[in-house]
Amino acid sequence: MKRIAIFASGAGSNAEVIIRHFEFHHDAQVILLVSNNPNAGALNIASEHGVKTLVIAREEFFSDESIVEELKAEGIDLIVLAGFLWLIPAAIIHAFPNKIVNIHPALLPKFGGKGMYGNNVHQAVLNAGESESGITIHYVNEHFDEGAHVARFSCPVMPGDTIESLSQRIHALEHAHYAKTIESIL
Ligand code: GRF
Repeated sequence: MKRIAIFASGAGSNAEVIIRHFEFHHDAQVILLVSNNPNAGALNIASEHGVKTLVIAREEFFSDESIVEELKAEGIDLIVLAGFLWLIPAAIIHAFPNKIVNIHPALLPKFGGKGMYGNNVHQAVLNAGESESGITIHYVNEHFDEGAHVARFSCPVMPGDTIESLSQRIHALEHAHYAKTIESIL
């Protein structure tokens, strides 16, 4: 049984879909949800599904050991970032080589990098007049949004789209593909 840890900072809609996807799965299960934000909706969702939670403080997360010991103690095989806003420190990347994936709400390499998260991404896509956006699922390295791509899925940007309408379309795409892509990686 592969053991998944999800890192999430916010509402946790992706975390919920992933937890549910693996809830009665034979080969993998979400074991732990890690958050930097004690008020993250993702923490409640995890608790409701009996998934262990861990809230981390900045000083610990960015220390030389980070939370590697906790992750190793839980026997984690794959770390899944689902709306996690902090850069992953080198200690975790070195301890889990090619075992950390992220989802980005645009078609990388465009609209990525520091500060490009959440609605900032959709605003930038709309400002650029793109006719297409989408999601990128990628491995994580020490730079924001730069690791090797696992999969990209696209959707149209419609005339008259707002941040809200585009964000809804992107979320639907994320919910349709992230858990399945994680399953194929495992
Ligand atoms: C998603 O759009 C994801 O791509 C981005 O953060 C958002 C998280 O949404 N990295 P949710 O918390 O899963 O609802």
